[in-house]
Amino acid sequence: MIFLTSFLSWFYSWKNKILIVIIIVILYFCFYPSLLFYYHSLGPSLIFYYKHFNQSLPLILLYTHNRSHKTRNNICRGTRNGGHVVNFERCPKKCQFSCQLQDFKQRSPLAVLFFGEDFYWPFQLTDQDRLSYKQRWIFWSWEAPINHPEYSRSRLTFNWTMTYRQDSDIIHDYGRYIARNLSYTIRDYQAVDFYLSNETNQSTFDVGKEFSARENKILWIVSNCKTRTNRHQIATELNKYFPIDQYGGCSLLNKKAKILSTNEFEQTLFKYKFYLAFENSNCQDYITGKAFYNALAHGSIPIVLGANENNYKNILPPNSFIYIQRYKNMSDLANQLRNISQNLYVFKFYHQWRIHYRLIVWPSNYFIDDLFCNLCIKLYEDEKPKSYNNFSRWLNQCK
Ligand SMILES: *[C@@H]1O[C@H](CO)[C@@H](O)[C@H](O)[C@H]1NC(C)=O
Ligand SMILES: *[C@@H]1O[C@H](CO)[C@@H](O)[C@H](O)[C@H]1NC(C)=O
Ligand SMILES: *[C@@H]1O[C@H](CO)[C@@H](O)[C@H](O)[C@H]1NC(C)=O
Ligand SMILES: *[C@@H]1O[C@H](CO)[C@@H](O)[C@H](O)[C@H]1NC(C)=O
Ligand SMILES: *[C@@H]1O[C@H](CO)[C@@H](O)[C@H](O)[C@H]1NC(C)=O
Ligand SMILES: *[C@@H]1O[C@H](CO)[C@@H](O)[C@H](O)[C@H]1NC(C)=O
Ligand SMILES: *[C@@H]1O[C@H](CO)[C@@H](O)[C@H](O)[C@H]1NC(C)=O
Ligand SMILES: *[C@@H]1O[C@H](CO)[C@@H](O)[C@H](O)[C@H]1NC(C)=O
Ligand SMILES: *[C@@H]1O[C@H](CO)[C@@H](O)[C@H](O)[C@H]1NC(C)=O
Repeated sequence: MIFLTSFLSWFYSWKNKILIVIIIVILYFCFYPSLLFYYHSLGPSLIFYYKHFNQSLPLILLYTHNRSHKTRNNICRGTRNGGHVVNFERCPKKCQFSCQLQDFKQRSPLAVLFFGEDFYWPFQLTDQDRLSYKQRWIFWSWEAPINHPEYSRSRLTFNWTMTYRQDSDIIHDYGRYIARNLSYTIRDYQAVDFYLSNETNQSTFDVGKEFSARENKILWIVSNCKTRTNRHQIATELNKYFPIDQYGGCSLLNKKAKILSTNEFEQTLFKYKFYLAFENSNCQDYITGKAFYNALAHGSIPIVLGANENNYKNILPPNSFIYIQRYKNMSDLANQLRNISQNLYVFKFYHQWRIHYRLIVWPSNYFIDDLFCNLCIKLYEDEKPKSYNNFSRWLNQCK
């Protein structure tokens, strides 16, 4: 009180009033740049979100403490770093998306997403923090659990999953195929199909031309030599009977495999008849961009190893791939590869699907608008309570 009255009497002097104003102005200019920086780091869409938050739309919150997570930055900061902010414009249902942890308490999100990789660190949240019985806690990952033991370390109870598994509540896949006469607008957005005619929606894959232009060899691009599968022995054995050209950070068949730039990578993928699409783990439904983007989208036939044969049959187009375990040995497999390389008729057999179906393939290993649109639709349409009582068992379907 004494302090206040002495301050006020001090403040009555006009000189001191001016002093205060000057101090405020100086402080403002000191902190302004960092405020501005913070505001801009949110990205234009998040600024929009804060100005236009709509109480009546379902809110999806990405709950992660890792501010350097690549996906988090891509979808939270948006276009600044070549990323992409979640956008529901093309989605038949509308939701809102937030990356701000304080929204967990303040805005009661209907869906809370957790990245699998985040469970590597002790996690603050427990099941008791669930704010309403309607809130869905969702496990999100597109990597196989076998390389990420931290996934099962989470002690949270999840209501839904968003993974590559076909029995996930929302499928986060690497690609799919649909009948040419069907349209799937949201999925079409930014998905790639290098052999799609704009005019007719028919395939531009010219079987005769591709048959003579492509090398009668297998392309193999490997970045990582560490693997839990025996894919390196298999490739070495196959290379004895049929030539494999290897590129990337891991050298096995070449003394020093060339690392390709993005541009060279794209060019190279169009040059071969076959592509070695070996997954880094053998998990149910784990069929990645190696088969979809690297091989099928670029017009080559994937030689696959990873999930079981029925998984491949369900997920890849009919007669579009070679399942390695069908062959007794690599010499038998090489015979079939020669059969395909030398007979246009047999080559055609493996590309026949292109007449009736087309590919929808993500350029990178995740695709955001489509994924979040499917999640948003499900939030509107599916009100059944659900939770995974043994999530770890559900997840670890690997050999
Ligand atoms: C909020 O969303 C609802 C439902 O989509 C919509 O009807 C309403 O117009 C929106 N309100 C504002 C202020 O945008
Ligand atoms: C955050 O994510 C990045 C990239 O995904 C990863 O390299 C890093 O280890 C993560 N940090 C923590 C603390 O989890
Ligand atoms: C699309 O074509 C398939 C045969 O390829 C046919 O069974 C189906 O009825 C067609 N669908 C539409 C919507 O035309
Ligand atoms: C091609 O397909 C798209 C969506 O799948 C559709 O909107 C468009 O009208 C089709 N174009 C032609 C020429 O059929
Ligand atoms: C087909 O459409 C894409 C995207 O709209 C465009 O970039 C491309 O030039 C078109 N191709 C032809 C041959 O018209
Ligand atoms: C591979 O298996 C076939 C039988 O399917 C056999 O005739 C051939 O000798 C085997 N080749 C090698 C190298 O083991
Ligand atoms: C060549 O491949 C086709 C299609 O898989 C098969 O029907 C045929 O028996 C094969 N021919 C030889 C000589 O292996
Ligand atoms: C989510 O899971 C929790 C824990 O099992 C459960 O109590 C809750 O009812 C579930 N909510 C929904 C919407 O499924
Ligand atoms: C979940 O399943 C695994 C593997 O089947 C089993 O070892 C574990 O005891 C189960 N946990 C619970 C809580 O039932």
